Amino acid sequence: MSYSPSPVRYDSMTYNRCGKSGIMLPALSLGLWHNFGGVDDFKNAKQIIRHAFDKGITHFDLANNYGPPPGSAEENFGEILKKDFSGYLRDELIISSKAGYRMWPGPYGEWGSRKYLISSLDQSLQRMKLDYVDIFYSHRPDPLTPLEETMYALASIVQQGKALYVGLSNYNAEDARKGFEILKRLGTPCLIHQPKYSMFERWVEDGLLNVLEEYGVGCIPFSPLAQGLLTNKYLKGIPEGSRAGKPHGFLRPTDITDEKLNKIKKLNDLAKKRKQSLAQMALTWLLKDKRITTVLIGVSSVEQLNDNLACLNNLAYSEEELNEIENILKS
Ligand SMILES: NC(=O)c1ccc[n+]([C@@H]2O[C@H](COP(=O)([O-])OP(=O)(O)OC[C@H]3O[C@@H](n4cnc5c(N)ncnc54)[C@H](OP(=O)(O)O)[C@@H]3O)[C@@H](O)[C@H]2O)c1
Repeated sequence: MSYSPSPVRYDSMTYNRCGKSGIMLPALSLGLWHNFGGVDDFKNAKQIIRHAFDKGITHFDLANNYGPPPGSAEENFGEILKKDFSGYLRDELIISSKAGYRMWPGPYGEWGSRKYLISSLDQSLQRMKLDYVDIFYSHRPDPLTPLEETMYALASIVQQGKALYVGLSNYNAEDARKGFEILKRLGTPCLIHQPKYSMFERWVEDGLLNVLEEYGVGCIPFSPLAQGLLTNKYLKGIPEGSRAGKPHGFLRPTDITDEKLNKIKKLNDLAKKRKQSLAQMALTWLLKDKRITTVLIGVSSVEQLNDNLACLNNLAYSEEELNEIENILKS
């Protein structure tokens, strides 16, 4: 069936300014790391993307290696774009991709050289059948390539018109600061930083968030639900078809420890008192910080997406609730 976007798609979403840029991003963005690859159900993937756009999610986050197999999420997304988002609808979308992890054999298939970043983006554009992406990221810092080379490559990608903005992902506070300085000198200020951040992973609070604020760079935390741990789904074992139950991916059954489950249970009880699901509480806990532009979720169904979208109905926290969360996380 052909798709025509909902006419009320901009009515219920909140849009936040990304750092000190001209770009507004939806409070929730959708990532295609899992559930959109060659091994996944294409029809389900298409339904999720259509529904996300209908609810005001304008930002879709990809990377060269998303799948599995690597590259297949971009191919599938390209198919969906071609059929459902042709013509001027492209101008309503912010599409991101990244390069940093291994994509092809030999010394030029990963990390942060100019050679790798530019070839990889060309491949991503081909897979998605696009002329440009809106945001292109260096996916991880490269300890061996000079930072200048990686930043110059990002700036020239913008000059070539293959990306409109650039971002850094997984850079620590010190490297991010150095990168922002170089990019500013080159006239291509960094738009956004993408770190792992959730109730269970809080390294960004030790300096990175302050650096982002200082440089006017936005922040898009990934794995805000700790890949599904910060929901009620693992409280009674590992459900079939869940990320921890699948043979591929990075959430392994051994990650679901008794210590984590104990905290999840207490957080789940608190979420109930707030009349939220735990997933909604984990997302709003991130959004309460004004330095967070948008939270980057992953979902395996339209139902999960709806559950997460409903977090926007209850964003407020009392001091007491925040203290209770801290105490649970420290317990
Ligand atoms: N820059 C980087 O290095 C990097 C690394 C990782 C991810 N990312 C980006 O961040 C995005 C999000 O990461 P993520 O997928 O790990 O995010 P996440 O939101 O922490 O985890 C997503 C998973 O949580 C479960 N889930 C989501 N909503 C739920 C709900 N309402 N109720 C119950 N379960 C729910 C689903 O698991 P099931 O599949 O089990 O149903 C879903 O696949 C990725 O798609 C990617 O774009 C970037």
